[in-house]
Amino acid sequence: MLPRTSSLAPSDDLLPGVRVFLADETHYPSGSHKEPAARAIVARAVADGHDRVVVGSCGSYGRAMATACATAGVRCTVVLPADWGDSGAFAAATGADVHFVPGGYEDAVGASHRLAVSEGAMDGNVDGPYKDVIFEGHGHVIDSLYHELGPAPASLWIPVGNGTTIVAAHRRLRALGWPVALHGVGSPGNNPIVTSWPGLYQVLPRDAVVTTEHNEPLVNWHALHGPDALAAIDASGGAVHAVADDELLAAQAMLARQGTVAGAAGSAALAGLVAYVRTGSVRGDQIVLLSGR
Ligand SMILES: Cc1ncc(COP(=O)(O)O)c(C=O)c1O
Repeated sequence: MLPRTSSLAPSDDLLPGVRVFLADETHYPSGSHKEPAARAIVARAVADGHDRVVVGSCGSYGRAMATACATAGVRCTVVLPADWGDSGAFAAATGADVHFVPGGYEDAVGASHRLAVSEGAMDGNVDGPYKDVIFEGHGHVIDSLYHELGPAPASLWIPVGNGTTIVAAHRRLRALGWPVALHGVGSPGNNPIVTSWPGLYQVLPRDAVVTTEHNEPLVNWHALHGPDALAAIDASGGAVHAVADDELLAAQAMLARQGTVAGAAGSAALAGLVAYVRTGSVRGDQIVLLSGR
């Protein structure tokens, strides 16, 4: 059974005058808010008779999948970019096979698609054949929030990389009939969801993005669910916001002061809300999704 992970605490003191709820997704064993999606994939792998799941990752989805696979006794291969990503040590410690490929995140995902085919393994990538299972897994947190907050309108702030979490949230919100405005928060200039908003999705030149140790999970030159994420945000009545590394770190420190240990990128949603509050446009309850990695 999964540990309880979405501890929702009203945090009036975080932003005076604004009712902020923390959707704390930091407590999974891997530290990643991607773990429920990974667990959904592993459950399907077992049901479909796969003994190995292959994913590409810059770090956190790989950690989540390696953790979920180890729990279920399913083998796991994590493909990481040699240019930038985590060391693979966490995934390896769970028993996963870790491969490095030249290039960045998108190259690792491409290589992992090919590896899954050549090994006859389950392709667990967010843009792979089981992406609907991933969306369902990510939707669990929405059910949990709905259960705790009820049907009143709200805004939900989510960090954006590929836009997978945003698309999944939108699907589940629509299914529940819960009117929640989705706000995606990314790194300025470093993600096409951020640079395309509010227009049509346009991929960035590969060398246009700047990765740092803080913004890394938010950086993509191609966001794998970019067009759908833009459409979801628009349809929900929300918007896309950009926060620089110093704003990520300030939000992370703010959370640490009240006892929540989130990653810098995992604090992006709060950083986006903090910046938006300064515009004086915030109305109603604000929910902030946090991730540990
Ligand atoms: C901390 C953090 N924020 C944001 C993201 C991006 O999420 P998504 O790809 O669902 O937009 C990730 C992805 O790994 C992440 O680890």
